[in-house]
Amino acid sequence: MSRRKVIYEGKAKIVYEGPEPGTFIQYFKDDATAMNGEKKAVIAGKGVLNNRISAHLMTRLESIGIPTHFIRSVNMREQMVRQLEMIPLEVVVRNIAAGSLAKRLGIKEGTYLPRPIVEFYFKKDELGDPMVNEDHIIGFGWLDPYELDEIIAMSWRINDYLNGMFAGIGLKLVDFKLEYGRLWGEYGELYLMLADEISPDNCRLWDAQTNEKLDKDRFRQDLGGVIEAYQQVAERLGLVPKGGIIEGGSINEQLAASLTQIDNELAGERRLRSVTKPTKPRKV
Ligand SMILES: Nc1ncnc2c1ncn2[C@@H]1O[C@H](COP(=O)(O)OP(=O)(O)O)[C@@H](O)[C@H]1O
Ligand SMILES: [Mg+2]
Repeated sequence: MSRRKVIYEGKAKIVYEGPEPGTFIQYFKDDATAMNGEKKAVIAGKGVLNNRISAHLMTRLESIGIPTHFIRSVNMREQMVRQLEMIPLEVVVRNIAAGSLAKRLGIKEGTYLPRPIVEFYFKKDELGDPMVNEDHIIGFGWLDPYELDEIIAMSWRINDYLNGMFAGIGLKLVDFKLEYGRLWGEYGELYLMLADEISPDNCRLWDAQTNEKLDKDRFRQDLGGVIEAYQQVAERLGLVPKGGIIEGGSINEQLAASLTQIDNELAGERRLRSVTKPTKPRKV
């Protein structure tokens, strides 16, 4: 495995060259970071759970017509994805005030927002991922206006779907972060796709009854029980059996390996769907 070419090593994942042209392998690490990398820890088993959760959520989103980079799970820590030209933005969708929104605007954490709010951040660690608006995005050419509309529409749709899905398993989807990328087709057509990961690393998930936090805030705020929380999410999604796959910091590898197959069966064969710009009107 280590012979493969590393394309990029990030904070939570390593991206390797894939087995086929146009593919990458995403390896999910156990590393956790917060406060723009200042706070660091290794949380045994986190990568395994995030890999499974993200594979599952991407597969579910595909089934409602959201194109995603996910191709298939490879093993308990790795998934094969389409190689995309990444858009340098983090798209955050919020339903309930928490984190930086609560702080910046002085809204009590846990307050339901009057309607979902989509925010954009320029993905640049050196700058601490500053917030940007639609004029920055168009002006600096990160997206053209058509792509921006498409991304906003997709993000709302993802929010609607995930909200319902999590509500069904007794979780509040407080907010989450998405990343998108472009895939260029054979004839120069463009496919916008959901990329990166969707997991408790980049979603805020609270128990609907108790508001207990079941996401990365447990790490950020030193609440303890981080892996147990991630496992709880996976368990409620039906991705790991009760009791989970991680106990006392060690992973039941055999069980984890057998679960990979399930994602792949669900993912099945998938065809590319175009969500592209309308072809330019021909000059006459
Ligand atoms: N399908 C994809 N194609 C190319 N790059 C991707 C794809 N999905 C995610 N990425 C990028 O790979 C990296 C994943 O590693 P991660 O640890 O999350 O990095 P970071 O610390 O930059 O957030 C991110 O920079 C993300 O933008
Ligand atoms: Mg990341």
